[in-house]
Amino acid sequence: MSTLNSHSNIAEHSIGLKDTASNSSIMLACRQQACSYTPIWLMRQAGRYMTSYRKVRSKAEFLELCKNPDLATEVTLLPVDELGVDAAIIFADILLILEPLGVQLRFAAGEGPIIDNPVRTESDVYNLQQVSVADPLSYVFDTIRKSRRALKSDLPLIGFSGAPFTLAAYLIEGGKVGNLARTKTFMYKYPDAWSHLLSLLTNACIEYLSEQIKSGADIVQIFDSWLGYLSPADFNQYVLPYSKMLVATVKDLAPTIYFGTDTCSLLDLIKQTECQVIGLDWRADLSLEWEKLDYQVAIQGNLDPIVLLSDRENIDRQTKRILAQAQGRPGHIFNLGHGVLPETPIDNVKYLVELVHKLGRTTKQ
Ligand code: CP3
Repeated sequence: MSTLNSHSNIAEHSIGLKDTASNSSIMLACRQQACSYTPIWLMRQAGRYMTSYRKVRSKAEFLELCKNPDLATEVTLLPVDELGVDAAIIFADILLILEPLGVQLRFAAGEGPIIDNPVRTESDVYNLQQVSVADPLSYVFDTIRKSRRALKSDLPLIGFSGAPFTLAAYLIEGGKVGNLARTKTFMYKYPDAWSHLLSLLTNACIEYLSEQIKSGADIVQIFDSWLGYLSPADFNQYVLPYSKMLVATVKDLAPTIYFGTDTCSLLDLIKQTECQVIGLDWRADLSLEWEKLDYQVAIQGNLDPIVLLSDRENIDRQTKRILAQAQGRPGHIFNLGHGVLPETPIDNVKYLVELVHKLGRTTKQ
C-alpha cells in the first residue's frame, strides 16, 4: 500500500479553497478559465502498458479488480504517482452498469467484453430489470471515497459512465462492436423498444453518475465511444434526446466531459447537450472544430495514441502542433484521441506529460 500512503495527505484536506480540486488546472479548464499550464490526463491511463498495473492485475481477474475497492483504488492512483497527470480517473469499466440490469458480462483474455445474454428481440428489452443501480454498484462508490481520501486535495478525481447509446450498442452486439449493424437495425425496426431501452439506460446512468459525484467525483466523463457510427440525422432522432437528458441532470452537479470517436459531423449536436467539455478523437482538427463550436465549450484532446508508439521527435512535433492549434485559449485539456494502447512504452507517456506541462500555457484571450 505504499502507493496509497504516498498520496495520503490528511493535512491538505483542511487547507482553504485555494488547494481544493475545484481550483485545479483541469477545473479551471472546464470553466474555460486561464491556467499557468495546460492540464493533461489520459484515457486508459491505468492499464496494461504499466508494469505496476500488471502486477496488481496478476492478483485478480479484471472484473474482480473493479469490484475490489482496495485494489481498484491502488490502480486509480498509479498514474498520478508514476506519470504526474493532473487528474485521476476511477478504475472501473463502462459495462459494469449492465450487470444490475440482468446482463451476464465477462471479459475473456484477448477478446474483450462478452455478454452471454445479449438483447436481440423486443421482449429481451422489456425483460431487462428496471432496478436502482446504486446498491449493486456500491463498490464503485467505495472506490471513489477511498481514492478521494487518498488523493491530494487539489487533484481532481474523474468519475465516468458509458453513454446510453454506446451501452445499448454493447448490449445488442453482445461484445465486439463491428459496424453496429445489429444495433442500428434494432433501432430502425423497433422504435418503441429502442426508446424503452434508451430511457432505461439513461435513468441508470443518471443515478450512477449522481451517486459517483455524491461519493467524491469532481468531474465526470461520458464515454459515447461508438457514436461516430451514426449519421447526424439518426443521432438527432434516436439518441440525442437521451444524451441531453443525462447531461442536463449531471452538468450542474459536476463539470461534464462528453467524449466520442469519429464525431466531427456530430459536434454541433453534442454541444446541444450543454456539456462543459467536448472530447475529440485524433481524427478531428482541433483548431477547426473548436472554431466551429464558437469556443463556447472547453475542448479535450486529441493526440493519436499511436504517436506514443513512435519516437520522441514525432511526439514533440505532434504535441506542439496540438498546443498550437489550441492557441493558448483557456479551456483546453490535453488528452489522447482515445485510450493508451497496451503496447505503449511508459517512458513515452511520461515524456508526453512533462512536455505538455513544459510547453502548454493558456492565457486570457
Ligand atoms: O481510463 C482509465 O484508466 C480508467 C479505467 C477504464 C477502463 N475502461 C479500464 C479497462 C475506463 C475509463 C474504461 C472505459 C471503457 N471500457 C470504454 C470507453 C473508452 C473506450 O475505450 O472507448 C469501453 C468501450 C470499455 C469496454 C472495454 N473494457 C473494452 C472494449 C475492453 C477490452 C479492451 C482492452 O483494452 O482489453 C475493456 C477492458 C478494460 N477496461 C481493461 C482496462 C484496464 C483491460 C482489462 C485487463 O486488464 O485485461
